[in-house]
Amino acid sequence: TANDAPRGKQPTATYDSAFLKACRREPVPHTPVWFMRQAGRSLPEYRKVREGIPMLESCTRPELVTEITLQPVRRHGVDAAIYYSDIVVPLKAIGLDLDIKPGVGPVVEQPIRTRADLARLRDLTPEDVGYVTEAIGMLTRELGPVPLIGFAGAPFTLASYLVEGGPSRTYENAKAMMYGDPELWADLLDRLSGITAAFLKVQIEAGASAVQLFDSWAGALAPADYRRSVLPASAKVFDAVAHYGVPRLHFGVGTGELLGLMGEAGADVVGVDWRVPLDEAVRRVGPGKALQGNLDPTVLFAGKDAVEAKAQEVLDAAAGLEGHVFNLGHGVMPGTDPDALTRLAEYVHGASAR
Ligand code: CP3
Repeated sequence: TANDAPRGKQPTATYDSAFLKACRREPVPHTPVWFMRQAGRSLPEYRKVREGIPMLESCTRPELVTEITLQPVRRHGVDAAIYYSDIVVPLKAIGLDLDIKPGVGPVVEQPIRTRADLARLRDLTPEDVGYVTEAIGMLTRELGPVPLIGFAGAPFTLASYLVEGGPSRTYENAKAMMYGDPELWADLLDRLSGITAAFLKVQIEAGASAVQLFDSWAGALAPADYRRSVLPASAKVFDAVAHYGVPRLHFGVGTGELLGLMGEAGADVVGVDWRVPLDEAVRRVGPGKALQGNLDPTVLFAGKDAVEAKAQEVLDAAAGLEGHVFNLGHGVMPGTDPDALTRLAEYVHGASAR
């Protein structure tokens, strides 16, 4: 029972899982593997249960969330589940008028552009997201020893959607605020760090065994700007959950020049996209942290031999690391053949077994 568990709420078998061991840089029987965006459109069983239910509504139904989160665990035998939700769920929960448009992404009705707009970003309370607590309770019972990863969007990536009003390639409105009104920008990110920290706390207290902070679009920033204008807000999030002792993962796309700083922000595990090989990434991140990654997700369209050769390259580059969690360098693409993912998980387990 939970009371017998050595660390907090965690059952011993979960604590001793390959995924959590790798995050703690302990020896593992095989390299653990999970896939960002493993739940979702690549799976026919996902498309079936989501039929007619809008994305954000689906995130508020605990039974549906539980089913969707479990689907890739059953199918692929991955070493961790990721909680089915979205980075904009806590923003919706505090009353912002936003939606996720299919094929587009998050769209915000009235962007946040002025100091007066900040008042719309109130604090998040656990009562705002009662369905998260309920779903994670159900999930951890169903998952048994398989760890559940909770997650949130990092302040910069959330701000990019809020200030732009939707997805962007250039982030010109968000960056204009960052460069032109640093005080307003800092206050915006500080509010978002409070909301994000509160959302992660809810997930950990409900039973999540690890948390990943997605700063997906931070790669748009130069290191000096990241350090000055973004790192303090992300560090605040990591500090706020440090006392729980669960591994904290941090990921962004195109962040080769930021890997050291993203570790410095307070991550235990730094996610790497496919642009930087892991043996080079570990030099950039420095000692004391595990790495996660980093197979190019488009490789999955190339056939079994190519997938295995490229997966082996990732494992070889990770051979000298203290802790490695195998993942893709970004999320599973919607057109990916799910069988290719199942075979990849099997390959990583077999090739890394010792
Ligand atoms: O397995 C999982 O990872 C599922 C949980 C999950 C979702 N979104 C569900 C989702 C996670 C971890 C996310 C994170 C997320 N959401 C990020 C960070 C990860 C990354 O990819 O960089 C970002 C930037 C978002 C914002 C967002 N939400 C985008 C860009 C999109 C895609 C829009 C589209 O339709 O192409 C979404 C929608 C979304 N979130 C879907 C899923 C399964 C697809 C919508 C659907 O199924 O109807």
